[in-house]
Amino acid sequence: MRNLKLLLLCAAIVGCAAVAVYADNSVLSKVLERYQAEGAASFSAENGEKMWTQKFNSDEEPLIRSCTTCHGTDLSKQGSHAKTGKIIEALAPSANPERFTDEEKIEKWFNRNCKWTLGRECTVQEKGDFLSFLSSK
Ligand code: HEC
Repeated sequence: MRNLKLLLLCAAIVGCAAVAVYADNSVLSKVLERYQAEGAASFSAENGEKMWTQKFNSDEEPLIRSCTTCHGTDLSKQGSHAKTGKIIEALAPSANPERFTDEEKIEKWFNRNCKWTLGRECTVQEKGDFLSFLSSK
């Protein structure tokens, strides 16, 4: 019983911390909480940033790919799609408040972009790290 109370208290504190950080975006905190429920540890914006610029090899053109291939390195600026040349609006929520406010959209694009860039789906840990990095911009 005592342990249970302690556990609940911990959950409440951790929950509050997560909500405090992402208070302005409930979708984002919901997504990050789900990733942790699905096995991710705590998230690292630093790891997300490293992976953002990491280069991956592909058998098809372009042979070298990274997230920056389409989104660029300055997240407060527009990017441009590597294949179609279409403008991609800034990913930084500070420049584009619409960002990371739609769970389905987040998952749809993680799915496509991870496959295109890494040649595989991203893990929940990687997605959480990416979101921690991107949402801090
Ligand atoms: C081939 C081009 C391309 C690459 C490479 C790419 N993206 Fe994207 N990304 C897009 C497009 C197009 C959209 C959807 C258009 C938009 O939201 O403006 C998008 C949207 C997103 C979104 C949704 C943002 C939101 O508003 O919810 C996330 C998250 C994202 N990308 C992350 C990544 C990550 C992480 C990588 C690297 C693993 C990556 N992208 C690489 C083209 C790309």
